[in-house]
Amino acid sequence: MTASPGSVPASAPATPSFATTETHTGYVPGTPQNPVAVPIYQSSAYEFESFEAARNLFALKSSGNLYSRNGTPTQAVLEKRVNALEGGVGALAVGSGQAAVAVTLLTLVHTGQHIVASNKIYGGTTDLLTDTCKDFGIDVTLVDPLDLDAWEAAIRPETRAALVEGVGNPIATLADVRAIADIVHAHGVPLVVDNTVATPILFRPFEHGADFVVHSATKFMGGHGTSVAGVIVDGGTFDFTAEPEKWPTFTTPYARYADLVFTEEFALPAPGVPREDGKSPFLVLARSKGVHDLGPSLSPFNAFQILQGIETLSLRMDRHTRSALEVARFLEAHPAVAKVHHPGLESHPDHATAERLYPQGIGSVFSIDLACGEDEDPIEVSGRFIDSLTLFALVANIGDARSLVVHPATMTHSRLNAEQRAEAQITLTTIRLSIGLEDVRDLTADLGKALDRVRPAGQHAAGQNTAGQHIAGQATAGQAPAGHPAEAVPGGRGASAAVPA
Ligand SMILES: Cc1ncc(COP(=O)(O)O)c(C=O)c1O
Repeated sequence: MTASPGSVPASAPATPSFATTETHTGYVPGTPQNPVAVPIYQSSAYEFESFEAARNLFALKSSGNLYSRNGTPTQAVLEKRVNALEGGVGALAVGSGQAAVAVTLLTLVHTGQHIVASNKIYGGTTDLLTDTCKDFGIDVTLVDPLDLDAWEAAIRPETRAALVEGVGNPIATLADVRAIADIVHAHGVPLVVDNTVATPILFRPFEHGADFVVHSATKFMGGHGTSVAGVIVDGGTFDFTAEPEKWPTFTTPYARYADLVFTEEFALPAPGVPREDGKSPFLVLARSKGVHDLGPSLSPFNAFQILQGIETLSLRMDRHTRSALEVARFLEAHPAVAKVHHPGLESHPDHATAERLYPQGIGSVFSIDLACGEDEDPIEVSGRFIDSLTLFALVANIGDARSLVVHPATMTHSRLNAEQRAEAQITLTTIRLSIGLEDVRDLTADLGKALDRVRPAGQHAAGQNTAGQHIAGQATAGQAPAGHPAEAVPGGRGASAAVPA
């Protein structure tokens, strides 16, 4: 790591730094009560100034508060703030990260058309792509995000979107966003990047050619595991008018909206340059059709919770990232761990990519493969490890202040078939970790104890594949670093979990 995320430069930057943006952008106290914190506007609907004002709002001819399914003033602050962090032309907040992905794709892609997506992504997104998209008559090709020829080969005349996670969940696969963007752009296809794991603190996809960025704000943005939310950001770079016949919803009169042509009515001053009102053809359609019709709205309370989280995002990402790398180094030295999928490690095949694209680190979500002998049951081994952990909560989530653990093959990615799981590099002993904000010495002590119940330090499994990742002579495996009160970490989740003989 060469720099600290969110660090404050000596002189004031030309654009606000992350730390300032996180705490200020999008909100100016202005109500008679003048609250310094963003208020939770808990109102289902908003009173129109006049009949004419109401008609104009419904006709998309003016901006303003209408009905909370379409947006709230609390949500509007969140949208401005995330947009500023990502450097887009505007944003749309929705009820979950899943909704952010779904609304983005369904705004771009219709029945009979096609999506190309990474095969190393969050299992819920794979479910959406391989099951629900099929119901909608949308075909999907999943490709290895690192195989650029596969992206090229998968594109068809009817392809309308490409989707990749910047840092893939759960294997921390690092996509070369610029290279993928160049390929899909050559075919007139926009690139959507899910930036949930890295957050804009560590990676800004628009600087690498992405056209749309989606987030599960449930994770690091909220940061405390309290509220589900999602955000879509438009980079304003995709030109729907370059091949207008491919995008009739945007480029031809839309009868539903009194024959408005979205690319004319909401045109940007120039590619990537925001309008005063934060609108764009894509964002207006996503809000007034996708969210309006399907209804995945964000509650004002959840928007407030995510805003609270964002105020400390760069501080937290710094700690998360540093701790995760320290934990990864500890894990790669333990004989119970066959592989550590953390590209920040020098031994990882994608380490050079990590240094190039993620100079501040790759965040704190990564996986390990537990060592498993040929005569052992991988599910039992995984269970013995997970149930021996005390500090790590067994939770289907990432990006919490608390450290979390999950068994992707039977939990978050359990709907994938065996072939899809293999392509996603998820084995039956793959364990995903999300490193929290606790003292890292407590975390390594907890992990060390649980790993010792899988395989005590010094003992190797018969037929074990160590994948060449064990580095001899590093920290004594399973042992807390010097000076750490290891006894402060009690018992284990499964009190009956036996230490193997
Ligand atoms: C990378 C990624 N994208 C999207 C989602 C979906 O987000 P949510 O759970 O907020 O709907 C998740 C959830 O784990 C995720 O990890």
